[in-house]
Amino acid sequence: MLKIIRYSALALLLVIGGIWGHAWFSRAPGQGVGAVFAQRLASVFGQQLPVPSAGGGLQLPPGISLGGPFSLVRQDGLAVTERDYAGQFLLVYFGFTYCPDVCPTELGRIADVIDALGPAGARVTPILITIDPQRDTPAAMADYVSRFHPRMQGLTGTPEQIRAVASRYRVYFARGQNQDTTHYVMDHSSFVYLVGPDGQVQSLFRPETSVEEMARGTAAMLRRLTSS
Ligand code: NI
Repeated sequence: MLKIIRYSALALLLVIGGIWGHAWFSRAPGQGVGAVFAQRLASVFGQQLPVPSAGGGLQLPPGISLGGPFSLVRQDGLAVTERDYAGQFLLVYFGFTYCPDVCPTELGRIADVIDALGPAGARVTPILITIDPQRDTPAAMADYVSRFHPRMQGLTGTPEQIRAVASRYRVYFARGQNQDTTHYVMDHSSFVYLVGPDGQVQSLFRPETSVEEMARGTAAMLRRLTSS
């Protein structure tokens, strides 16, 4: 438990630090780093930040919707769209296989959430969508996601397809600066999206959310959307 808290805190620091670092390098001359940092954070959710809810996740403000149509390529090479996931519950994370620390931590926690849900976990599909399609081929994704959970899917696509899906989920990502063409890291926002059977994001979890809280929030949504 302490370990989870420590890793979550570390992950949060890394994400905030990454966005701060990106703001520092990318700001215009004379522009304050704080202002750019606020813009970067806001770019993740537009101008309206979601509000915390009792279920451990963040509810989207009224009028804000995330998710929807996409066209991507699964780790087995098959083309997929949102229609292939209609009626399913998803835990979606955006990251990349070369990520040194944040992505593996979050994907490990998503796998723990699926297992913590017990039998209900079988109704939730964990998905990694890459924001680094240049290096993350279907084969690379297949190898990577299999390390976390046997049912985890890895989706990649053309740079245009990735930009399109990232924009629907308001995911911030950018290539780090001053690095060569093959050895580079990606800056990216780090949220776990809980997607309902209609393909829309129902709530999202911040990087510091514990496995227990995420499992509780996911179970609550399974109950709510299944009984209604
Ligand atoms: Ni990452």
